[in-house]
Amino acid sequence: MTKDSLTLDAPVTDALQLGPRDGSNSRKVFIKTYGCQMNVYDSTRMSDALARDGYESTEDMEEADLVLLNTCHIREKAAEKVYSALGRLREMKKRKAADGREMMIGVTGCVAQAEGEEILRRAPAVDVVIGPQTYHRLPDALRRAKEGQRVVDTEYAIEDKFEHLPIAEKAKIRARGVTAFLTVQEGCDKFCTFCVVPYTRGSEVSRPVAQIVEEAEKLVDGGVREITLLGQNVNAWHGIGPKGEAWSLGDLLYRLAEIPGLARLRYTTSHPRDMDDRLIGAHRDLRTLMPYLHLPVQAGSDRILKAMNRRHTAAEYLTLVEKIRAARPDIALSGDFIVGFPGETDQDFEDTLRLIEEVNYAQAFSFKYSTRPGTPGAELKDQVPEEFKTERLERLQALLLRQQHAFAEACVGKTVDILLEKPGRMPGQLIGRSPWLQSVNVDAKASQIGDIINVRITGTSTNSLFAELL
Ligand code: 5AD
Ligand code: SF4
Repeated sequence: MTKDSLTLDAPVTDALQLGPRDGSNSRKVFIKTYGCQMNVYDSTRMSDALARDGYESTEDMEEADLVLLNTCHIREKAAEKVYSALGRLREMKKRKAADGREMMIGVTGCVAQAEGEEILRRAPAVDVVIGPQTYHRLPDALRRAKEGQRVVDTEYAIEDKFEHLPIAEKAKIRARGVTAFLTVQEGCDKFCTFCVVPYTRGSEVSRPVAQIVEEAEKLVDGGVREITLLGQNVNAWHGIGPKGEAWSLGDLLYRLAEIPGLARLRYTTSHPRDMDDRLIGAHRDLRTLMPYLHLPVQAGSDRILKAMNRRHTAAEYLTLVEKIRAARPDIALSGDFIVGFPGETDQDFEDTLRLIEEVNYAQAFSFKYSTRPGTPGAELKDQVPEEFKTERLERLQALLLRQQHAFAEACVGKTVDILLEKPGRMPGQLIGRSPWLQSVNVDAKASQIGDIINVRITGTSTNSLFAELL
Protein backbone atom coordinates (compact mmCIF):
# COMPACT_ATOMS: atom_id res chain seq x y z
CA MET A 1 0.00 0.00 0.00
CA THR A 2 2.30 2.69 -1.13
CA LYS A 3 0.11 4.69 -3.45
CA ASP A 4 -0.05 8.43 -3.07
CA SER A 5 -2.99 9.56 -0.96
CA LEU A 6 -3.89 6.04 -0.01
CA THR A 7 -4.09 6.28 3.74
CA LEU A 8 -5.15 9.69 4.65
CA ASP A 9 -7.45 11.46 2.30
CA ALA A 10 -9.42 8.55 0.93
CA PRO A 11 -12.75 7.93 2.63
CA VAL A 12 -12.08 4.95 4.85
CA THR A 13 -15.64 4.03 5.65
CA ASP A 14 -18.82 4.99 3.93
CA ALA A 15 -20.77 4.54 7.07
CA LEU A 16 -20.17 3.16 10.49
CA GLN A 17 -21.22 -0.37 11.19
CA LEU A 18 -23.39 -0.08 14.22
CA GLY A 19 -25.40 -2.34 16.41
CA PRO A 20 -28.79 -3.82 15.73
CA ARG A 21 -31.55 -1.46 14.80
CA ASP A 22 -34.42 -1.19 17.23
CA GLY A 23 -37.05 -0.70 14.54
CA SER A 24 -38.30 2.57 16.02
CA ASN A 25 -38.81 5.56 13.79
CA SER A 26 -35.77 7.32 15.20
CA ARG A 27 -33.76 9.82 13.20
CA LYS A 28 -30.94 8.51 11.11
CA VAL A 29 -27.35 9.67 10.75
CA PHE A 30 -24.92 8.83 7.98
CA ILE A 31 -21.28 9.48 8.81
CA LYS A 32 -18.63 9.55 6.13
CA THR A 33 -15.14 9.32 7.54
CA TYR A 34 -12.10 10.60 5.72
CA GLY A 35 -8.50 10.33 6.77
CA CYS A 36 -6.73 8.65 9.61
CA GLN A 37 -7.75 6.14 12.25
CA MET A 38 -8.26 8.91 14.77
CA ASN A 39 -11.14 10.12 12.64
CA VAL A 40 -12.55 6.59 12.51
CA TYR A 41 -12.43 6.51 16.30
CA ASP A 42 -13.97 9.98 16.60
CA SER A 43 -16.80 9.01 14.25
CA THR A 44 -17.63 6.10 16.53
CA ARG A 45 -17.66 8.34 19.58
CA MET A 46 -19.86 10.90 17.80
CA SER A 47 -22.32 8.26 16.70
CA ASP A 48 -22.49 7.01 20.30
CA ALA A 49 -23.23 10.54 21.50
CA LEU A 50 -25.90 10.95 18.82
CA ALA A 51 -27.45 7.59 19.71
CA ARG A 52 -28.27 9.06 23.11
CA ASP A 53 -30.31 11.67 21.25
CA GLY A 54 -32.21 9.05 19.27
CA TYR A 55 -30.04 8.99 16.15
CA GLU A 56 -29.58 5.59 14.64
CA SER A 57 -26.75 4.99 12.17
CA THR A 58 -27.46 4.25 8.55
CA GLU A 59 -25.29 3.25 5.63
CA ASP A 60 -27.81 4.67 3.20
CA MET A 61 -27.37 8.40 2.74
CA GLU A 62 -30.76 8.58 1.05
CA GLU A 63 -32.62 7.81 4.30
CA ALA A 64 -30.43 10.03 6.48
CA ASP A 65 -31.84 12.97 8.43
CA LEU A 66 -28.31 14.04 9.22
CA VAL A 67 -25.17 13.63 7.12
CA LEU A 68 -21.81 14.20 8.79
CA LEU A 69 -18.57 14.49 6.89
CA ASN A 70 -15.71 13.79 9.27
CA THR A 71 -12.90 15.34 7.30
CA CYS A 72 -9.13 15.26 6.90
CA HIS A 73 -6.87 18.19 6.03
CA ILE A 74 -3.49 16.55 5.73
CA ARG A 75 -3.07 17.27 2.01
CA GLU A 76 -4.61 19.70 -0.49
CA LYS A 77 -6.92 17.47 -2.43
CA ALA A 78 -8.59 16.35 0.78
CA ALA A 79 -10.32 19.68 1.45
CA GLU A 80 -11.33 20.06 -2.20
CA LYS A 81 -12.94 16.62 -2.06
CA VAL A 82 -14.96 17.77 0.93
CA TYR A 83 -16.18 20.86 -0.91
CA SER A 84 -17.24 18.84 -3.91
CA ALA A 85 -19.00 16.30 -1.67
CA LEU A 86 -20.79 19.23 -0.03
CA GLY A 87 -21.89 20.44 -3.46
CA ARG A 88 -23.52 17.06 -4.12
CA LEU A 89 -25.09 17.01 -0.67
CA ARG A 90 -26.64 20.39 -1.31
CA GLU A 91 -28.53 18.90 -4.27
CA MET A 92 -29.68 15.99 -2.15
CA LYS A 93 -30.81 18.32 0.60
CA LYS A 94 -32.85 20.36 -1.91
CA ARG A 95 -34.41 17.25 -3.39
CA LYS A 96 -35.35 15.92 0.04
CA ALA A 97 -36.75 19.31 1.04
CA ALA A 98 -38.96 19.26 -2.07
CA ASP A 99 -40.35 15.96 -0.71
CA GLY A 100 -40.94 17.59 2.66
CA ARG A 101 -38.00 15.82 4.35
CA GLU A 102 -35.39 17.73 6.25
CA MET A 103 -31.73 16.74 5.99
CA MET A 104 -29.10 18.46 8.09
CA ILE A 105 -25.45 18.57 7.05
CA GLY A 106 -22.51 18.77 9.43
CA VAL A 107 -18.79 19.03 8.80
CA THR A 108 -16.44 17.78 11.50
CA GLY A 109 -12.74 16.94 11.64
CA CYS A 110 -9.67 18.79 10.54
CA VAL A 111 -11.14 20.65 7.55
CA ALA A 112 -13.84 21.94 9.90
CA GLN A 113 -11.14 23.17 12.27
CA ALA A 114 -9.00 24.75 9.57
CA GLU A 115 -11.73 26.33 7.46
CA GLY A 116 -14.35 27.19 10.10
CA GLU A 117 -16.66 29.98 8.91
CA GLU A 118 -15.29 29.64 5.40
CA ILE A 119 -17.25 26.39 5.05
CA LEU A 120 -20.50 28.23 5.72
CA ARG A 121 -19.58 30.73 3.03
CA ARG A 122 -18.53 28.20 0.41
CA ALA A 123 -21.16 25.61 1.22
CA PRO A 124 -24.51 27.24 1.97
CA ALA A 125 -26.23 23.92 2.72
CA VAL A 126 -24.06 23.22 5.76
CA ASP A 127 -25.78 23.54 9.16
CA VAL A 128 -22.99 22.81 11.62
CA VAL A 129 -19.19 22.95 11.57
CA ILE A 130 -17.53 21.30 14.57
CA GLY A 131 -13.79 20.99 15.18
CA PRO A 132 -12.18 17.90 16.72
CA GLN A 133 -11.92 19.42 20.20
CA THR A 134 -15.66 19.98 20.64
CA TYR A 135 -17.37 16.78 19.52
CA HIS A 136 -19.14 16.52 22.87
CA ARG A 137 -21.01 19.69 21.90
CA LEU A 138 -22.28 18.25 18.62
CA PRO A 139 -25.72 17.19 19.95
CA ASP A 140 -26.25 20.69 21.30
CA ALA A 141 -25.09 22.30 18.06
CA LEU A 142 -27.59 20.16 16.17
CA ARG A 143 -30.40 21.31 18.48
CA ARG A 144 -29.48 24.90 17.76
CA ALA A 145 -29.27 24.19 14.04
CA LYS A 146 -32.78 22.72 14.19
CA GLU A 147 -33.91 26.11 15.43
CA GLY A 148 -32.44 27.69 12.34
CA GLN A 149 -28.97 28.73 13.51
CA ARG A 150 -25.86 27.87 11.55
CA VAL A 151 -23.31 26.79 14.15
CA VAL A 152 -19.53 26.94 13.96
CA ASP A 153 -17.65 25.58 16.99
CA THR A 154 -13.91 25.29 16.46
CA GLU A 155 -12.73 26.34 19.89
CA TYR A 156 -10.03 24.47 21.73
CA ALA A 157 -12.35 23.46 24.54
CA ILE A 158 -10.84 23.48 28.01
CA GLU A 159 -13.04 20.65 29.20
CA ASP A 160 -12.11 17.11 28.22
CA LYS A 161 -14.39 16.05 25.40
CA PHE A 162 -13.87 12.36 26.14
CA GLU A 163 -15.29 12.77 29.62
CA HIS A 164 -18.46 14.09 28.05
CA LEU A 165 -18.78 11.51 25.31
CA PRO A 166 -20.53 8.26 26.23
CA ILE A 167 -18.88 4.86 25.71
CA ALA A 168 -21.13 2.51 23.75
CA GLU A 169 -23.00 -0.24 25.55
CA LYS A 170 -21.80 -3.82 25.35
CA ALA A 171 -24.06 -4.97 22.50
CA LYS A 172 -22.91 -2.14 20.29
CA ILE A 173 -19.23 -2.77 21.03
CA ARG A 174 -19.78 -6.44 20.22
CA ALA A 175 -21.41 -5.60 16.89
CA ARG A 176 -18.38 -3.54 15.90
CA GLY A 177 -16.03 -6.50 15.93
CA VAL A 178 -13.05 -7.94 17.75
CA THR A 179 -10.58 -5.14 17.09
CA ALA A 180 -10.98 -1.57 18.27
CA PHE A 181 -9.23 1.77 18.31
CA LEU A 182 -8.73 3.74 21.49
CA THR A 183 -7.41 7.29 21.32
CA VAL A 184 -5.03 7.96 24.21
CA GLN A 185 -3.38 11.13 22.99
CA GLU A 186 -4.28 13.93 20.63
CA GLY A 187 -2.53 16.86 19.06
CA CYS A 188 1.11 17.52 18.38
CA ASP A 189 3.80 19.86 19.70
CA LYS A 190 6.48 18.78 17.26
CA PHE A 191 5.73 21.29 14.50
CA CYS A 192 7.24 19.52 11.53
CA THR A 193 7.31 22.28 8.95
CA PHE A 194 5.12 20.44 6.41
CA CYS A 195 2.34 19.46 8.79
CA VAL A 196 -1.03 21.03 9.63
CA VAL A 197 -1.72 18.73 12.58
CA PRO A 198 -0.43 21.06 15.31
CA TYR A 199 -2.88 23.66 13.96
CA THR A 200 -5.92 21.47 13.36
CA ARG A 201 -5.60 19.16 16.36
CA GLY A 202 -3.92 21.60 18.70
CA SER A 203 -1.22 20.92 21.24
CA GLU A 204 -0.49 17.54 22.78
CA VAL A 205 -3.05 16.28 25.26
CA SER A 206 -2.88 12.88 26.98
CA ARG A 207 -5.96 11.15 28.34
CA PRO A 208 -5.63 10.06 31.99
CA VAL A 209 -4.71 6.46 32.85
CA ALA A 210 -7.98 5.66 34.63
CA GLN A 211 -10.08 6.82 31.69
CA ILE A 212 -8.05 4.74 29.25
CA VAL A 213 -8.10 1.62 31.42
CA GLU A 214 -11.85 1.93 31.95
CA GLU A 215 -12.49 2.24 28.24
CA ALA A 216 -10.15 -0.65 27.42
CA GLU A 217 -11.91 -2.87 29.99
CA LYS A 218 -15.30 -2.00 28.53
CA LEU A 219 -14.06 -2.84 25.05
CA VAL A 220 -12.72 -6.20 26.23
CA ASP A 221 -15.96 -6.87 28.08
CA GLY A 222 -17.72 -6.26 24.75
CA GLY A 223 -15.64 -8.97 23.07
CA VAL A 224 -12.71 -6.91 21.75
CA ARG A 225 -9.49 -8.96 21.56
CA GLU A 226 -7.13 -6.41 20.05
CA ILE A 227 -6.85 -2.71 20.87
CA THR A 228 -4.85 -0.19 18.88
CA LEU A 229 -3.94 2.87 20.93
CA LEU A 230 -4.11 5.98 18.82
CA GLY A 231 -2.48 9.37 18.95
CA GLN A 232 -1.07 11.81 16.43
CA ASN A 233 2.04 11.40 18.46
CA VAL A 234 1.04 8.42 20.51
CA ASN A 235 4.41 7.80 22.12
CA ALA A 236 4.41 11.32 23.52
CA TRP A 237 1.57 10.10 25.75
CA HIS A 238 2.34 10.61 29.42
CA GLY A 239 0.34 10.17 32.57
CA ILE A 240 0.39 9.53 36.28
CA GLY A 241 0.46 5.97 37.62
CA PRO A 242 -1.46 4.79 40.70
CA LYS A 243 1.41 5.69 43.06
CA GLY A 244 1.68 9.18 41.66
CA GLU A 245 4.66 8.25 39.48
CA ALA A 246 5.18 9.60 35.96
CA TRP A 247 4.16 7.14 33.26
CA SER A 248 5.15 7.01 29.60
CA LEU A 249 3.44 4.98 26.90
CA GLY A 250 5.54 1.94 27.82
CA ASP A 251 4.10 1.95 31.36
CA LEU A 252 0.59 2.27 29.99
CA LEU A 253 1.16 -0.74 27.74
CA TYR A 254 2.39 -2.86 30.68
CA ARG A 255 -0.78 -1.87 32.57
CA LEU A 256 -3.14 -2.61 29.67
CA ALA A 257 -1.44 -5.95 29.04
CA GLU A 258 -2.74 -7.03 32.49
CA ILE A 259 -6.38 -6.80 31.37
CA PRO A 260 -7.67 -10.38 31.27
CA GLY A 261 -8.99 -11.32 27.83
CA LEU A 262 -7.10 -8.61 25.98
CA ALA A 263 -4.96 -10.61 23.57
CA ARG A 264 -3.25 -8.00 21.46
CA LEU A 265 -2.06 -4.42 21.72
CA ARG A 266 -0.81 -2.06 19.05
CA TYR A 267 -0.20 1.68 18.91
CA THR A 268 0.22 4.28 16.22
CA THR A 269 1.64 6.80 15.17
CA SER A 270 4.99 7.25 16.83
CA HIS A 271 7.67 9.88 16.52
CA PRO A 272 11.29 8.65 16.63
CA ARG A 273 12.14 11.24 19.28
CA ASP A 274 9.64 9.76 21.71
CA MET A 275 10.73 6.09 21.52
CA ASP A 276 12.02 5.87 25.09
CA ASP A 277 13.65 2.85 26.75
CA ARG A 278 10.51 1.93 28.65
CA LEU A 279 8.59 1.64 25.37
CA ILE A 280 11.35 -0.36 23.72
CA GLY A 281 11.37 -2.54 26.84
CA ALA A 282 7.64 -3.15 26.38
CA HIS A 283 8.39 -4.50 22.90
CA ARG A 284 10.95 -6.84 24.44
CA ASP A 285 8.79 -8.04 27.37
CA LEU A 286 5.14 -8.01 26.35
CA ARG A 287 3.92 -10.83 24.13
CA THR A 288 0.60 -8.97 23.98
CA LEU A 289 2.31 -6.09 22.22
CA MET A 290 2.40 -6.99 18.54
CA PRO A 291 5.76 -6.91 16.74
CA TYR A 292 4.82 -4.10 14.39
CA LEU A 293 5.86 -0.47 14.59
CA HIS A 294 4.87 2.47 12.45
CA LEU A 295 7.82 4.80 12.82
CA PRO A 296 7.72 7.55 10.19
CA VAL A 297 11.03 9.09 9.16
CA GLN A 298 9.78 11.19 6.18
CA ALA A 299 13.21 11.62 4.57
CA GLY A 300 16.74 10.26 4.70
CA SER A 301 18.75 13.42 4.14
CA ASP A 302 19.91 15.32 7.22
CA ARG A 303 19.54 18.62 5.39
CA ILE A 304 15.88 17.88 4.60
CA LEU A 305 15.20 16.40 8.03
CA LYS A 306 16.48 19.64 9.50
CA ALA A 307 14.35 21.75 7.17
CA MET A 308 11.39 19.58 8.13
CA ASN A 309 12.18 20.22 11.82
CA ARG A 310 12.16 16.50 12.52
CA ARG A 311 14.68 16.95 15.34
CA HIS A 312 16.75 13.87 14.47
CA THR A 313 19.29 12.82 11.87
CA ALA A 314 19.18 9.82 9.55
CA ALA A 315 21.93 8.16 11.61
CA GLU A 316 19.97 8.66 14.84
CA TYR A 317 16.95 7.05 13.25
CA LEU A 318 19.01 4.07 12.09
CA THR A 319 20.54 3.64 15.54
CA LEU A 320 17.05 3.69 17.04
CA VAL A 321 15.87 1.05 14.58
CA GLU A 322 18.82 -1.14 15.57
CA LYS A 323 17.98 -0.76 19.24
CA ILE A 324 14.32 -1.65 18.66
CA ARG A 325 15.30 -4.68 16.59
CA ALA A 326 17.72 -5.81 19.27
CA ALA A 327 14.82 -5.75 21.75
CA ARG A 328 12.32 -7.43 19.43
CA PRO A 329 14.07 -9.12 16.52
CA ASP A 330 10.88 -10.11 14.65
CA ILE A 331 9.48 -6.56 14.63
CA ALA A 332 8.09 -5.33 11.30
CA LEU A 333 8.69 -1.67 10.57
CA SER A 334 6.47 0.67 8.67
CA GLY A 335 7.10 4.26 7.70
CA ASP A 336 5.81 7.44 6.09
CA PHE A 337 7.79 9.29 3.42
CA ILE A 338 7.45 12.64 1.74
CA VAL A 339 9.14 13.33 -1.59
CA GLY A 340 9.71 16.78 -3.00
CA PHE A 341 9.93 18.78 0.21
CA PRO A 342 11.09 22.33 -0.73
CA GLY A 343 14.81 22.32 -1.52
CA GLU A 344 15.06 18.53 -1.96
CA THR A 345 17.83 17.78 -4.46
CA ASP A 346 18.53 14.56 -6.33
CA GLN A 347 21.21 13.82 -3.75
CA ASP A 348 18.77 14.33 -0.86
CA PHE A 349 16.36 11.98 -2.53
CA GLU A 350 19.09 9.36 -3.05
CA ASP A 351 19.77 9.61 0.69
CA THR A 352 16.14 8.72 1.36
CA LEU A 353 16.40 5.67 -0.92
CA ARG A 354 19.57 4.63 0.90
CA LEU A 355 17.89 4.89 4.28
CA ILE A 356 15.01 2.75 3.02
CA GLU A 357 17.51 0.15 1.77
CA GLU A 358 19.13 0.08 5.18
CA VAL A 359 15.96 -0.19 7.21
CA ASN A 360 14.01 -2.58 4.99
CA TYR A 361 10.35 -1.78 5.62
CA ALA A 362 7.50 -4.28 5.79
CA GLN A 363 4.95 -1.59 4.98
CA ALA A 364 5.03 2.07 4.00
CA PHE A 365 3.02 5.11 3.01
CA SER A 366 4.49 7.71 0.74
CA PHE A 367 3.35 11.07 -0.49
CA LYS A 368 4.32 13.98 -2.66
CA TYR A 369 4.90 17.06 -0.57
CA SER A 370 1.84 19.27 -0.67
CA THR A 371 1.89 22.83 0.56
CA ARG A 372 -0.33 23.43 3.56
CA PRO A 373 -1.33 27.03 4.15
CA GLY A 374 -0.20 28.34 7.51
CA THR A 375 2.71 25.89 7.87
CA PRO A 376 6.34 27.09 7.72
CA GLY A 377 6.93 24.83 4.69
CA ALA A 378 4.51 26.91 2.67
CA GLU A 379 6.81 29.93 3.06
CA LEU A 380 9.87 28.16 1.71
CA LYS A 381 11.31 29.10 -1.65
CA ASP A 382 12.65 26.37 -3.83
CA GLN A 383 9.43 24.36 -4.18
CA VAL A 384 10.13 21.19 -6.17
CA PRO A 385 8.47 20.98 -9.61
CA GLU A 386 5.60 18.52 -9.93
CA GLU A 387 7.32 16.29 -12.49
CA PHE A 388 10.28 15.77 -10.14
CA LYS A 389 7.91 14.80 -7.35
CA THR A 390 6.12 12.33 -9.62
CA GLU A 391 9.33 10.69 -10.75
CA ARG A 392 10.76 10.48 -7.23
CA LEU A 393 7.55 9.08 -5.82
CA GLU A 394 7.52 6.37 -8.48
CA ARG A 395 11.08 5.31 -7.70
CA LEU A 396 10.48 5.40 -3.98
CA GLN A 397 7.28 3.38 -4.21
CA ALA A 398 8.89 0.80 -6.48
CA LEU A 399 11.57 0.23 -3.86
CA LEU A 400 9.10 0.11 -0.98
CA LEU A 401 6.86 -2.30 -2.89
CA ARG A 402 9.79 -4.63 -3.50
CA GLN A 403 10.51 -4.63 0.22
CA GLN A 404 6.88 -5.18 1.06
CA HIS A 405 6.62 -8.15 -1.32
CA ALA A 406 9.85 -9.61 -0.01
CA PHE A 407 8.51 -9.34 3.52
CA ALA A 408 5.28 -11.12 2.55
CA GLU A 409 7.19 -13.83 0.63
CA ALA A 410 9.43 -14.43 3.62
CA CYS A 411 6.31 -15.28 5.65
CA VAL A 412 5.45 -18.23 3.39
CA GLY A 413 6.05 -21.51 5.22
CA LYS A 414 6.05 -19.88 8.65
CA THR A 415 3.57 -20.81 11.35
CA VAL A 416 1.94 -17.80 12.96
CA ASP A 417 -0.92 -16.89 15.27
CA ILE A 418 -3.71 -15.00 13.58
CA LEU A 419 -6.66 -13.23 15.14
CA LEU A 420 -9.80 -14.15 13.19
CA GLU A 421 -11.60 -10.90 12.47
CA LYS A 422 -14.32 -11.18 9.87
CA PRO A 423 -15.85 -13.22 7.05
CA GLY A 424 -13.64 -13.66 4.00
CA ARG A 425 -14.56 -13.23 0.37
CA MET A 426 -15.37 -16.91 -0.12
CA PRO A 427 -17.95 -18.79 1.94
CA GLY A 428 -16.24 -20.89 4.59
CA GLN A 429 -13.33 -18.47 4.78
CA LEU A 430 -12.39 -15.93 7.40
CA ILE A 431 -9.92 -13.06 7.33
CA GLY A 432 -7.48 -12.95 10.17
CA ARG A 433 -4.65 -10.62 11.10
CA SER A 434 -1.04 -11.71 11.48
CA PRO A 435 1.10 -10.21 14.24
CA TRP A 436 2.60 -8.03 11.48
CA LEU A 437 -0.77 -6.56 10.52
CA GLN A 438 -1.16 -8.56 7.31
CA SER A 439 -4.60 -9.84 6.27
CA VAL A 440 -4.63 -13.63 6.16
CA ASN A 441 -7.29 -15.73 4.38
CA VAL A 442 -8.01 -19.08 5.97
CA ASP A 443 -10.77 -21.71 6.00
CA ALA A 444 -12.63 -21.31 9.29
CA LYS A 445 -16.13 -21.11 10.73
CA ALA A 446 -17.87 -17.81 11.47
CA SER A 447 -18.21 -18.91 15.10
CA GLN A 448 -14.41 -18.71 15.36
CA ILE A 449 -14.32 -14.92 14.89
CA GLY A 450 -12.39 -13.55 17.84
CA ASP A 451 -10.27 -16.68 18.22
CA ILE A 452 -6.53 -16.66 17.82
CA ILE A 453 -5.44 -19.70 15.85
CA ASN A 454 -2.15 -21.11 14.72
CA VAL A 455 -1.77 -21.38 10.93
CA ARG A 456 0.86 -22.01 8.32
CA ILE A 457 1.25 -19.32 5.66
CA THR A 458 0.98 -20.98 2.25
CA GLY A 459 1.06 -18.10 -0.22
CA THR A 460 0.69 -14.42 -0.95
CA SER A 461 -1.45 -12.20 -3.13
CA THR A 462 -1.29 -8.45 -3.70
CA ASN A 463 -2.56 -7.34 -0.33
CA SER A 464 -3.00 -10.46 1.72
CA LEU A 465 -1.69 -13.89 2.64
CA PHE A 466 -3.19 -17.36 2.42
CA ALA A 467 -2.89 -19.88 5.21
CA GLU A 468 -3.88 -23.39 6.24
CA LEU A 469 -4.94 -24.56 9.66
CA LEU A 470 -2.47 -26.55 11.67
N1 5AD B 1 2.52 16.83 2.28
C1 5AD B 1 2.69 15.51 2.06
N2 5AD B 1 2.58 14.58 3.02
C2 5AD B 1 2.28 14.99 4.25
N3 5AD B 1 2.11 14.32 5.41
C3 5AD B 1 1.81 15.20 6.37
N4 5AD B 1 1.79 16.46 5.88
C4 5AD B 1 2.08 16.35 4.57
C5 5AD B 1 2.22 17.29 3.52
N5 5AD B 1 2.07 18.60 3.73
C6 5AD B 1 2.29 12.87 5.52
C7 5AD B 1 3.47 12.55 6.43
C8 5AD B 1 2.82 12.08 7.68
C9 5AD B 1 1.56 11.44 7.14
C10 5AD B 1 0.50 11.29 8.15
O1 5AD B 1 1.16 12.30 6.11
O2 5AD B 1 4.22 11.52 5.84
O3 5AD B 1 3.58 11.17 8.44
FE1 SF4 C 1 2.68 16.34 11.95
FE2 SF4 C 1 5.22 16.04 12.65
FE3 SF4 C 1 3.29 16.18 14.51
FE4 SF4 C 1 3.46 14.01 12.95
S1 SF4 C 1 5.00 14.70 14.40
S2 SF4 C 1 1.62 15.13 13.49
S3 SF4 C 1 4.14 14.88 11.05
S4 SF4 C 1 3.89 17.82 13.14
